[in-house]
Amino acid sequence: SYEGDEIMRAPVVTVMGHVDHGKTSLLDFIRRTKVATGEAGGITQHIGAYHVEDQHGGVTFLDTPGHAAFTAMRARGAQATDVVILVVAADDGVMPQTVEAIEHSKAAGVPMVVAVNKVDKEGADFDRIRNELSQHGVISEEWGGDTQFVHVSAKTGDGIDALLEAVLLVSEVLELKAVPEAPAKGVVVESQLDKGRGPVATVLVQNGTLKRGDIVLAGLHYGRVRALVNETGTRVEEVGPAMPVEIQGLDGTPEAGDEFIVVADEKKAREVANFRQGK
Ligand code: GTP
Ligand code: NA
Ligand code: MG
Repeated sequence: SYEGDEIMRAPVVTVMGHVDHGKTSLLDFIRRTKVATGEAGGITQHIGAYHVEDQHGGVTFLDTPGHAAFTAMRARGAQATDVVILVVAADDGVMPQTVEAIEHSKAAGVPMVVAVNKVDKEGADFDRIRNELSQHGVISEEWGGDTQFVHVSAKTGDGIDALLEAVLLVSEVLELKAVPEAPAKGVVVESQLDKGRGPVATVLVQNGTLKRGDIVLAGLHYGRVRALVNETGTRVEEVGPAMPVEIQGLDGTPEAGDEFIVVADEKKAREVANFRQGK
């Protein structure tokens, strides 16, 4: 059935790599924010979702934790995305979660751009990093492979424009499209129970437009969207494809990685949610 015209949409880009290689710092530089310095122990423990618009166009970023404990989050991050930025610290090289990130990206069939980060530090050995990555099938263009390597510093900002250009080059080839007029569907990025607001879920709209008043079925839960709040904390009436947004109104907290869809009928949504919960 006809649901509306396709338009180009922004790419969804997941940032992955070993713990402390500088994923959040890179996004902080791109977003001109300081998320990394506010994290407990400097360790990311969730998937953050951010949309950035600049002269390069729009890009939605998913930040993932590098700590060994968060394998499932990295796997889900790779599945929800169009492109992976693999961050490798120049002074540390390829480490266990670097390899894990490569495996998740390959399993999800997602193209990768390598960001060799911390190039401002002493002790960077670029040939060593190229060599180690090539042993995992990630071969730089300079070495005859098909992966762009960009040297960056999240501290000085060196190379970050080039990194964004590389990401957009890869995403243009994918010709990413979506239908804004369709009922929304997408994926849950994270969710939590907020004392005042009740269940709050950050979702990424992959197709269609999510509107206040829509009935959403997300994993084991359902509900009518009471409020949509974008990443700047502003309440909005609706959000379109490739945009992250926080929603209130679900009857519980779905799992990160759960799919969500908008359905026409609240009773049906309740029935499906109850069935999934084994009620
Ligand atoms: P997890 O999310 O916990 O896996 O870490 P992360 O990859 O997000 O790294 P994070 O941004 O927390 O940075 C780790 C440390 O490296 C922090 O102390 C940063 O200030 C530092 N750092 C990150 N990027 C750079 C860089 O380009 N140069 C230098 N000198 N330090 C950096
Ligand atoms: Na960190
Ligand atoms: Mg981080």
